[in-house]
Amino acid sequence: MAAFGRMLLYVACVVVMLSKMAAAASSAKPNCPNWCGNVEIPYPFGTTENCYLNDNYFINCSNSQPLWENHFVTNISIQGELEISMFIARQCFRDSSGVPVVDNNKHSLTSRTFTISNTKNQFVAVGCDTYAYLNAYRNNEYFRIGCMSICQSLRNVVNASCSGIGCCHVDIPTGLKNFTLEVHSYNNHTNVSKFNPCSSAFMIKQDYESKFSSAYLEEILLKPNDTFPMVLDWAIGNETCETGRRKPDYVCGQNSACYDSKNGDGYRCKCNKGYEGNPYLHEGCQDINECLQVPKPCHAKAKCMNTHGSFSCTCREDYKGDGKMNGTGCSPKVSHFKIIIIALIAISIGLMVLFVGGSSLYCGLKRRKLFKLKEKFFQQNGGLLLQQKLSNDRTSMQAVKIFSIGELEKATNNYDESRVLGQGSYGTVYKGVLQDNKLVAIKKSKFCDQNQIEQFINEVIVLSQINHRNVVKLLGCCLETEVPSLVYEFITNGTLSNHIHDKVLSSSLSWEKRLKIAIDTAGALAYMHFSTSMPIIHRDVKPANILLNDNYSAKVSDFGASRLVPLDQTQLLTLVQGTLGYLDPEYFHSSQLTEKSDVYSFGVVVAELLTGRKAISFDGLEIDRNLAMYFSSAVKEDRLRQILVDDLVSDGNIYEINKVANLVKRCLSVKGEDRPTMKDMAMELDGLRSMEKHQSGKAYLCTEETDYCVTAPAVHYFNIGVNDGCSSTSTSTTVGYKISMRTQVSKPLDDDR
Ligand SMILES: *[C@@H]1O[C@H](CO)[C@@H](O)[C@H](O)[C@H]1NC(C)=O
Ligand SMILES: *[C@@H]1O[C@H](CO)[C@@H](O)[C@H](O)[C@H]1NC(C)=O
Ligand SMILES: *[C@@H]1O[C@H](CO)[C@@H](O)[C@H](O)[C@H]1NC(C)=O
Ligand SMILES: *[C@@H]1O[C@H](CO)[C@@H](O)[C@H](O)[C@H]1NC(C)=O
Ligand SMILES: *[C@@H]1O[C@H](CO)[C@@H](O)[C@H](O)[C@H]1NC(C)=O
Ligand SMILES: *[C@@H]1O[C@H](CO)[C@@H](O)[C@H](O)[C@H]1NC(C)=O
Ligand SMILES: *[C@@H]1O[C@H](CO)[C@@H](O)[C@H](O)[C@H]1NC(C)=O
Ligand SMILES: *[C@@H]1O[C@H](CO)[C@@H](O)[C@H](O)[C@H]1NC(C)=O
Ligand SMILES: *[C@@H]1O[C@H](CO)[C@@H](O)[C@H](O)[C@H]1NC(C)=O
Repeated sequence: MAAFGRMLLYVACVVVMLSKMAAAASSAKPNCPNWCGNVEIPYPFGTTENCYLNDNYFINCSNSQPLWENHFVTNISIQGELEISMFIARQCFRDSSGVPVVDNNKHSLTSRTFTISNTKNQFVAVGCDTYAYLNAYRNNEYFRIGCMSICQSLRNVVNASCSGIGCCHVDIPTGLKNFTLEVHSYNNHTNVSKFNPCSSAFMIKQDYESKFSSAYLEEILLKPNDTFPMVLDWAIGNETCETGRRKPDYVCGQNSACYDSKNGDGYRCKCNKGYEGNPYLHEGCQDINECLQVPKPCHAKAKCMNTHGSFSCTCREDYKGDGKMNGTGCSPKVSHFKIIIIALIAISIGLMVLFVGGSSLYCGLKRRKLFKLKEKFFQQNGGLLLQQKLSNDRTSMQAVKIFSIGELEKATNNYDESRVLGQGSYGTVYKGVLQDNKLVAIKKSKFCDQNQIEQFINEVIVLSQINHRNVVKLLGCCLETEVPSLVYEFITNGTLSNHIHDKVLSSSLSWEKRLKIAIDTAGALAYMHFSTSMPIIHRDVKPANILLNDNYSAKVSDFGASRLVPLDQTQLLTLVQGTLGYLDPEYFHSSQLTEKSDVYSFGVVVAELLTGRKAISFDGLEIDRNLAMYFSSAVKEDRLRQILVDDLVSDGNIYEINKVANLVKRCLSVKGEDRPTMKDMAMELDGLRSMEKHQSGKAYLCTEETDYCVTAPAVHYFNIGVNDGCSSTSTSTTVGYKISMRTQVSKPLDDDR
């Protein structure tokens, strides 16, 4: 729990991104597809009937690739640009015969409505025996522009500069709607085909020069239909704002303004200041909540209020100024003088009033101050953020509860000492009783890093959604104290550490119970590693963090030091954290955190269960102090029986104990890659239990063994689609026994909700 404040950047990023994506409004018409392939299609464009403004804005998406007038669309911006792929006109010669091997020397673009962007495109011709031109119409008059390039070697060609040697370019006039581009050679490349076989011409988005190099001239560009991106300016209709606005089909929506297109006809729409979204939709422009922006628009001592299209800042009571970050901000009021006068008047009005009303006044003031303090802490601790996330996400709303400070004080009888369950460097754990008589454990941390609050909030949400019977459930948190408190479900029977090392308790810990505890723990860890939306590494697996309930079900607790790992990330470089004796030596040396570190710690825990020895003991020979080494060498040298807990071995179980000991030895491998995964461990251990049931003669019937069946841990990854009940499939035989192995769980995974 020491690292409550220290949080998980990766998760935070992912969660924030996801929530942003979810929150972003669609830019298509309601109920219309917003994407075609990986291109966003904003209204007035659309891919299906009634989704586009008129035929000019139709995008053909029948092959999941956006096509506009037979050209591939690569980007559509709401600011009025349509980026398409335009063919390259090209003519190539291989020898001096004069017969071109590639002859695509003419391409045209026909646009009835949109205009070729004159600012974003250039017409470019490349080659050493080349001339190219562009035929076009403007105001129904034909015109032709073009350029030529002749060179005899590559010596004078300057890279990244379309300078006229090997490459020439022409600017595009405004108002151009359709064109044909053509490329030709003077001498069929007769004397240059060795280093420049092709002439080519194309329209291209203006970043061409950065791509141009002498290598272009040398390349034999034989690919039949290469394209380059070019930009069209789109607008609505062929009228100005002034006339468009008076028409019934005027498209600009609420909170938007109209402006005339600079290149070609028609008008465009734009959201007003303080709004964002698609201005072409009726309710497309949505208010921007400036209060949530980074950097914050208001001073730290001011309260931010979002208004339609704007925001306001109000300094707190004892501060003055306009509160805006760009304005005067907030500064403390210099009103000591006033306070003194008021105080003097108050005194002179009468000590009597003070006497009579004194006590009640004092109480009132104190309560008020306390209230303000609570509010301050709540905000500091990310309360607003959490509330916002919760309201965005219904499922976590049920999972996390935000407790008030009063509720927790009442639950713990004002943090009474008799309620303390445990204490450590991280803080104190109290037993609490909620109003509905539910028992809870309340973890009050000592410190918290204010910079990590957002990540902290995200972890609260992630952990509280985990609902596994062998993981202690996080019920909620309280943010009104200086350092946040966390509320967990209460586990009745104390820690596993206590049960192993207490003489009386350990004597009632039979082999079956020990095996069950190992299985439960393995199941919980396998679940955290493999079945959550993102792998979660515990980092501090030890008996003190495993709690038992009355029927010896184990529950893994204290994910305070845990790390959530994004799926594409198998190793994390971290500050080494954990408990000596349980700490993975590989992780200790390399700081590379993987799931295998938990596997090592789990191995030590099971070794402790088998031997009853502490992970580090200070009696005996030095070489035997480390339980992991002691245990591994005992198994290797076949001395296992000597180190087991007294009375553990009985006739029936030595096979199982041996099997478990060998599994533990693999977990304790020095190299992480030699260790099994938690999934393997859970499977192997569970197999043993099934065998035990079989051996003891009980018929394996799901309906009877509800505890085992309904929510059996660890085996959920067998889930292969059947989840309508319990069924068992027998799979393999070992040492003559038929092992029946359960292959699915009856309950859908909790995190799938
Ligand atoms: C869309 O393009 C496909 C070919 O890619 C064509 O067969 C189909 O007719 C087009 N649909 C429309 C509505 O133009
Ligand atoms: C599309 O164009 C917009 C605006 O010009 C730009 O911000 C965005 O990065 C482009 N998207 C792609 C995929 O090129
Ligand atoms: C180029 O080739 C054509 C035949 O394709 C030929 O008629 C013409 O004379 C050639 N020109 C030169 C300069 O070689
Ligand atoms: C381009 O448009 C003009 C009318 O503005 C038309 O006469 C001409 O044929 C068109 N050119 C092509 C190649 O479509
Ligand atoms: C131009 O770039 C090409 C590769 O892009 C390189 O081989 C050539 O040497 C460069 N020429 C000059 C003059 O920098
Ligand atoms: C090709 O080069 C030769 C020798 O340099 C020259 O005589 C001939 O006229 C050139 N041909 C053309 C078509 O330029
Ligand atoms: C290349 O483009 C031209 C003109 O758009 C077209 O006629 C031709 O069929 C295309 N060739 C291939 C191989 O796609
Ligand atoms: C404007 O567009 C309408 C139809 O969209 C057309 O009837 C009209 O002739 C166009 N006007 C001009 C000046 O191009
Ligand atoms: C504050 O001013 C800067 C530059 O003067 C500007 O870039 C920034 O957007 C302004 N911030 C707000 C919140 O108005």
